[in-house]
Amino acid sequence: MKRTIKTLAIASTVGFVGIMGVAYFGVVNVGADDPHLAPVHAFLTMVRERSIAVRARDLEVPNLNDEALIRAGAGNYNSMCIGCHLAPGVAQTELSQSLYPAPPNLTKVGVDGNPANAFWIIKHGIKATGMPAWGKSMGDQYIWGMVAFLQQLPSLDAEQYRTLVASSSGHQHGGGETQMHNHEGQHGDNVSAGEDHHGGEAASQAGDDHHGAGQAAEDHHAGESASQQADHHAAEPAAQGGTGHHGGAEGEANHHEMEQAQDEAAPAPKTHTHADGKEHVHES
Ligand code: HEC
Repeated sequence: MKRTIKTLAIASTVGFVGIMGVAYFGVVNVGADDPHLAPVHAFLTMVRERSIAVRARDLEVPNLNDEALIRAGAGNYNSMCIGCHLAPGVAQTELSQSLYPAPPNLTKVGVDGNPANAFWIIKHGIKATGMPAWGKSMGDQYIWGMVAFLQQLPSLDAEQYRTLVASSSGHQHGGGETQMHNHEGQHGDNVSAGEDHHGGEAASQAGDDHHGAGQAAEDHHAGESASQQADHHAAEPAAQGGTGHHGGAEGEANHHEMEQAQDEAAPAPKTHTHADGKEHVHES
């Protein structure tokens, strides 16, 4: 018995030192273009699934067939999610193909079987994956709206998607945010409201040498392969449902960041250019 304990103690010390050594000497590649080994992937998947299941199991799911809820969700989804999670008619974006783990194509998986899990994930995000914690800026009802919308998404074609987004009041979210910014409807199909809003971003960037619009445009095109360009343009109709003028999924995915920038920005001139949205994508 004593001997067994001794052997176990030595084995676990050796194991621990081995793992620390592997980590310390840089054997692990943290690059997002290098997939996990199968056992590591299986372990992380188990951690993720159990963590979410335990935390989401007591959530009370509202009526997700409520039309107004679905419509509100469509506007928000189109404004904030399609850069990573795509939309009907948008097969790929720079973010969707470059992140690891890859964002699931939500036009295919919808809520992925469990609305409570989807709500929890949207609200809290998932560490070290690129999936943001939207609960930091959005009230629960808006998050449920996106869950309700996600339930419908796999059954929508591009035309139905656009119609639904156009019928929403665009990008809106609750809590202190809405009161502070008075965003209601700004990302809707009212183009001039959208311009005001985005003008703020242009102004804040103009003050910063490194983020000049010209440079942003250059960066964008330098990094684009022919196929990405095609994808980018394919993304436009969907994104435009929400804003009328914004270039592709990319800019939209970064709205929250931009809104914060707007806070500090001077009153908005009507000089919005597309370059700013694209620039943010290349930074992230
Ligand atoms: C910057 C990219 C990015 C943005 C923007 C983003 N997500 Fe995600 N999302 C991810 C990634 C990456 C994952 C996968 C995480 C993982 O593998 O555990 C994910 C996972 C999810 C899942 C779980 C899907 C499943 O099948 O398990 C849901 C639901 C989701 N996101 C909803 C949203 C919604 C709604 C928005 C917009 C409000 C959004 N996401 C915006 C990157 C993003």
